[in-house]
Amino acid sequence: MSGRGRLAYGIVSRINHWIVALAIIGMLVFGIYIDDFVSEGPAQGALLQTHKAIGVLVLAYGLCRVGWRLAHGFLAPAAPMPYWQDVISKVTHWGLLAGILIMPISGMTTSLFGGHDISVFGLLVIPGQQKIGWLSELAEEVHGATVNILIALIALHILGALKHHLIDRDATLVRMTSGKSAR
Ligand code: HEM
Ligand code: HEM
Repeated sequence: MSGRGRLAYGIVSRINHWIVALAIIGMLVFGIYIDDFVSEGPAQGALLQTHKAIGVLVLAYGLCRVGWRLAHGFLAPAAPMPYWQDVISKVTHWGLLAGILIMPISGMTTSLFGGHDISVFGLLVIPGQQKIGWLSELAEEVHGATVNILIALIALHILGALKHHLIDRDATLVRMTSGKSAR
C-alpha cells in the first residue's frame, strides 16, 4: 500500500517516528558517553549492559516502526521542491530507516559472536555464540562507522525540517507533529 494519496502522517506513524527518534538519539548519546567519558572498568561494563538491553528493545520496536513504513509507504513531499532536494530527502529517509536496524543488529552481532550473552534486564537472555573473531570485529567496525553516518544524516534531517518550517513555511514539520496537512 502506498501513502502517496494521503496528505499527513497518521497517529501510528507520528508516535513511531518520535519514540524511535528519541530512542536513537538517546542511544547515540549514551553510547558515546560510555565509550568516551567513562573509564574502563566495572562501572563501564554495567553501563554497557544497560546500553545493550535497551538496544535490543529498540530493535524490537524499530522492526515494527520500519515495517509499518515499508507497508504504508512514504508521503509525497508536503510542497513542491527542487529535484535535488527531493533526492536528498529520500536518500536521508532510507538511510535513517536502515540505521534504526543496522545499529542494534551490529551491536548484537559484536556481543553474541564475541561469545557474550545479552541479558535484557534479566527478562530474556540471548545466549552468546561460539566466538567468531572476525565477525565480531567486523560488526564492531560497522557499529562505530554507522554512528558517524547516522549523526550526519540526523543533523541533515533536522536542518531540512527546520528549513521547511522556518524558511519555506510549508507543512513538512507540522504533518509529523500535529498531523495537520496545511499551515
Ligand atoms: C539501538 C541502537 C544503538 C545505538 C544508536 C548504539 C550506539 C552506540 C554508540 C554511539 C557507541 C559508542 C561509539 C562507538 O562504538 O564508537 C556504542 C558502543 C557499543 N555498543 Fe551500541 N548502540 C545501539 C545498540 C546496541 C546493541 C543492541 C548492542 C548489543 C547488544 C550494542 C553494543 C555496543 C557495544 C558492545 C559497544 C562498545 C564497543 C564498541 O565500541 O563497539 N549497541 N553503541
Ligand atoms: C529532532 C529530531 C527530528 C525532527 C525535527 C524530525 C522531523 C521529521 C519530519 C518533519 C519528517 C516528515 C518529512 C516529510 O513529511 O517528508 C520526518 C520524517 C522522517 N524521520 Fe524524522 N525527525 C527527527 C529525528 C529523526 C530521527 C532521529 C530519525 C531516525 C533515526 C528520523 C527518521 C525519519 C524518517 C525515516 C522519516 C520518513 C517518514 C517516516 O518513516 O517516519 N527522524 N522527520
